[in-house]
Amino acid sequence: MNLLGIETSCDETSVALLDEHGAVRANRIASQIERHRPFGGVVPEIASREHLAHLMPLVEAALSDAGLRRDELDAVAVTVGPGLIGALLVGVAAAQGLSWGLGIPLIPVNHLEGHLVSPWLRPEGPAAELPERLLSLVISGGHSSIYELRRDASLQVSMLNRTRDDAAGEVFDKVAKFVGLPYPGGPHVERVAKNGDCSRFSFPLAQFKDESLDFSFSGLKASAIRLARELRLAREAEGAEESRLLADFCASFQKAIGDQILDRVDRVWSSLASEGRPMPTELGLAGGVAANGPIRDRIAEWGVRRGVVVRLAERRYCTDNAAMIAFAGLILRGPASGGDPRRQKAASRMPVGVV
Ligand code: KG4
Ligand code: ZN
Repeated sequence: MNLLGIETSCDETSVALLDEHGAVRANRIASQIERHRPFGGVVPEIASREHLAHLMPLVEAALSDAGLRRDELDAVAVTVGPGLIGALLVGVAAAQGLSWGLGIPLIPVNHLEGHLVSPWLRPEGPAAELPERLLSLVISGGHSSIYELRRDASLQVSMLNRTRDDAAGEVFDKVAKFVGLPYPGGPHVERVAKNGDCSRFSFPLAQFKDESLDFSFSGLKASAIRLARELRLAREAEGAEESRLLADFCASFQKAIGDQILDRVDRVWSSLASEGRPMPTELGLAGGVAANGPIRDRIAEWGVRRGVVVRLAERRYCTDNAAMIAFAGLILRGPASGGDPRRQKAASRMPVGVV
């Protein structure tokens, strides 16, 4: 089977081709980062126009990478939400046209479910088999949640926690912007932090009175920005970006984000264990922030300590890509899921488990 995947929910236009085993035969990504950089964030109207310009040429490029013709496609999977509505509509309309024109099923995919299964994709060869019970931590620019996926009689995806305010990636981006690092900030913080001392500054770990396991990153963001202002870091970055002070700040801030992620993963794990039901056997780490080296290392160490198989999404599958969308379409939904392609709708908000 040849499955075409399309992803246009935010600022990456991506088209992928997968076979029935989840082997990735093509995964093209056109990033719009340079177009949005002058504005310090994604401009929805620019995103839609860029998707429109790049999507169909990418379909042709992906087909040529895989050595396939359009009439050899068996199904098309597309992100239908959540995301920027104008951006989503470009991908959904293209998928509808291909599905209708070629007479092949359209599989609607929730973007978060794409991230959720991405750690089981492999760059070469078939995807790893998903266990019957798994946890997946999705930490991106728009989301920070731990999901549980169970395959009993049917497949169930449930959200075990969420962020009550900002997403982890959003906080990386906002703090980085404040200290004068380019957009998107996460990779730049990681780069600058390499030369820093992560114990120089400490930040509070968010806790709730009701012992909720939710994430909360806005307090960390506020204290990081307050400290950056006191240290006059915005000026530091202009002159000598790699200054000792900025490096120590970035390393300490990055560690604080990791501290909270580790705290929640461990406590979610303990709370599942205390319920006495069958435990998940694997933990996936996905989403843009999952590309962060120190966070990857810490989650991998946690897995060794707790005896859990940890699957770190390949870096190329961490940030938005169509391979993960096609994969989610393949294993979570299947070709029969779509119905009449003309009736498919996009939605900017969409909980997991619903398409
Ligand atoms: O998954 P993604 O491409 O888009 C969303 O669906 O949100 O994630 C983008 C986010 C941005 O906030 C970016 O700063 C962050 O992922 N990110 C990183 C790293 N690479 C990307 N954050 C920390 N360290 C990184 N190496
Ligand atoms: Zn994403």
